[in-house]
Amino acid sequence: MAPAIRPPETAQALPREAYLSQEHFQKELERIFYSTWQYAGHVSEFPTTGSYKRFAVGDVDLLLVRAGDGAINALHNVCRHRGAQLVSDGTGTCKRALTCHYHGWAYNHDGSLRGAPKMGGDFDKTQFGLKRAHTEIWNGCVFVHLGDQPPTPVRESLAEVVWPYADLDRAKVAEAVTYEVETNWKICWENALECYHCAINHPELVRVFDQDGDAGGADGGDDYVYFVNPLLGDSLSVTLSGNLESKVLFECTTPLDEARGFFQWHTSTFEMVASPDCVAVMTYTPLAPNRTRITQTFLVPEKAEGGTDYDPGTLFELHKLAREQDNQLCTSVQKGVTNPAYVPGPFNDIYEVENLRFLDVYWKLMGDTSDLF
Ligand code: FES
Ligand SMILES: [Fe+2]
Repeated sequence: MAPAIRPPETAQALPREAYLSQEHFQKELERIFYSTWQYAGHVSEFPTTGSYKRFAVGDVDLLLVRAGDGAINALHNVCRHRGAQLVSDGTGTCKRALTCHYHGWAYNHDGSLRGAPKMGGDFDKTQFGLKRAHTEIWNGCVFVHLGDQPPTPVRESLAEVVWPYADLDRAKVAEAVTYEVETNWKICWENALECYHCAINHPELVRVFDQDGDAGGADGGDDYVYFVNPLLGDSLSVTLSGNLESKVLFECTTPLDEARGFFQWHTSTFEMVASPDCVAVMTYTPLAPNRTRITQTFLVPEKAEGGTDYDPGTLFELHKLAREQDNQLCTSVQKGVTNPAYVPGPFNDIYEVENLRFLDVYWKLMGDTSDLF
């Protein structure tokens, strides 16, 4: 990776404006969220031809649609006639065509224009397909990329990340929880990158999770971290008991006590915490300088049935509890950085090493910020 381009005054944490400024926020959308791979869902959320799910970040609004050939296409959710939004609900199924509610133009599942009422014989339908974004499926996770040029494939960027499960692409979404938190997205991400705060804020988690497990730096590439999730004692899962809380486990390709993973991809603010009984996927989507949507999606093996094979209240409980504890911390930090007295503080050079790696990635993506600071 090229040397980080950090404004000299931000040798450690970010300056106050980075958490508050609308102008800075807009640049982040353009330079990061519109220019890197973003997680949009799991393949199981597109079970049949015509299944769709919306993905929105900033002003961008995409429609991911399963086509008849099995592909999941990312189509911009804007009609090529007068620009109406095609779909306003979050998920659904359109069996044959996506039909615009305004004048009735209809689009195929690959975005090509199928019909445009009364447009006349000279009208060339081939010129008015929906605009598309790039998609790629990695371990069952569907990523989208908004750039014009074909991006570096996810599988290439993450070639060294090998999940200890053979069937992650055949998992299913057991539950998804969404929080809107009054905080900047980077405060959420910075919080997720370190466990320095765990001992006094996550008493339940640290009975299971080894807070020193990644101290001093963890394995990973330039822009991600990946390691075997460090659990304490005989713990096998991120549950309150530390026990596996489901009768149906993922198809583990390693011994059970190593069949877990912790993955954070900085350029996508995408996080996976994997145990043999449950994989928790977290995303952090910026809504405003001081507002972030956090989604926790819990994947389980496709054959696992809630209420029969596992109790959802038990299996996901620790993940949710820690998330709610972190939400309060992130809200508190946003209040603090809003105070004019805030100045960036130093990182702990053992427990917050990953925060520095994130800042390197961040400044590289942001490029020249002389117009912002
Ligand atoms: S805006 Fe969609 S058909 Fe006219
Ligand atoms: Fe935390």
